[in-house]
Amino acid sequence: MTASARTLASRLLEWYRRARRDLPWRGTKDPYRIWVSEVMLQQTRVSAVVPRYEAFLERYPSVEALAAADVEDLLASWAGLGYYRRARMLSDAARRIVREHGGSLPRSHGRLRELPGIGDYTASAVASIAFDEPTPALDGNALRVLARLANERRPVLAGAGRAAVRQLAESLMAAVPKGSRGDFTQALIELGATLCTPGAPRCGACPWQASCAALSAGSVETVPSRPARRAPKRLHICAGLAVAGQDILLRQRPADSGVMPGFWELPQALGGRGDLRETGLAVPCDGRPLATFRHAITDSIFTVRVYEARPGPSSARACQWVTLAAARELPLSTITTKALARCPGGVLGAKLPAGRDQS
Ligand code: ADE
Repeated sequence: MTASARTLASRLLEWYRRARRDLPWRGTKDPYRIWVSEVMLQQTRVSAVVPRYEAFLERYPSVEALAAADVEDLLASWAGLGYYRRARMLSDAARRIVREHGGSLPRSHGRLRELPGIGDYTASAVASIAFDEPTPALDGNALRVLARLANERRPVLAGAGRAAVRQLAESLMAAVPKGSRGDFTQALIELGATLCTPGAPRCGACPWQASCAALSAGSVETVPSRPARRAPKRLHICAGLAVAGQDILLRQRPADSGVMPGFWELPQALGGRGDLRETGLAVPCDGRPLATFRHAITDSIFTVRVYEARPGPSSARACQWVTLAAARELPLSTITTKALARCPGGVLGAKLPAGRDQS
């Protein structure tokens, strides 16, 4: 890296102001709207967030409105964005902001970090974009851009490589003029999303090409180093479908579950058909599954089999009969949405009407 931090910062800002995408959260300094955008953008692509963002803010236009929201309605508004825990955390944080901060987001990285669901990245993004605090926000895009700028060959997700990249980010941010810290945060992300991409980066259009150590070393394609991917676990799930007329038997996932808390699902168990008995259902020991499908999450691939079942005494305590029409209004787990869509209409009595898009 040859140019000074000041030169690098000003080249990046000049490029950003000319080349940035016109995204709906970029025209505001409202901390609430910026916070919502950053939470939505965690683990979700920009193209999936854009169509949901304005609708969500119309429904919940302020911290107060979000704090007062019914959690099931909130989860429904989150449909299609995935990782529903974020919506619950947003609601928990909004209540804290109303209770402890008079409805205004706290104005520093340190105070933002104390709120539920706000980690180092989100606190830095909100503090720099909304409050012009000089705290660099390092998401995957920013880490990749900076790793290449410095030709940092160590992994940057943790450890010494990450510390080196953070130091570089801080020295660049320190050279950014007041009033432009938010643009710098967004510019780093933008560079990583549009030019300095993981594969086929467009170095010829990059405002940092003259200073990029990875480009001059010929290592752009291999920096940052990627951690070896572990093979996904392959697991089996059995779900039981009990039907009575237009009703199906569902249960609600616990509120403290790490996966889709509070969502509704068919009673199900890890393992084979015999393991379904632990849900309290009575399952015939012969007969083919009504449906079989794959469901992949971050590090596991499930083969899901759905069996016709009857309620047993203990399933009555844990589960509820719900009409198909009412089920359509509930937040359903992804596996259950897939299962109901794949079960033959004859078994269900009537096909479940096209429900909400859950993931
Ligand atoms: N990803 C995370 N934050 C972002 C932002 N502000 N703009 C575009 N993509 C992002």
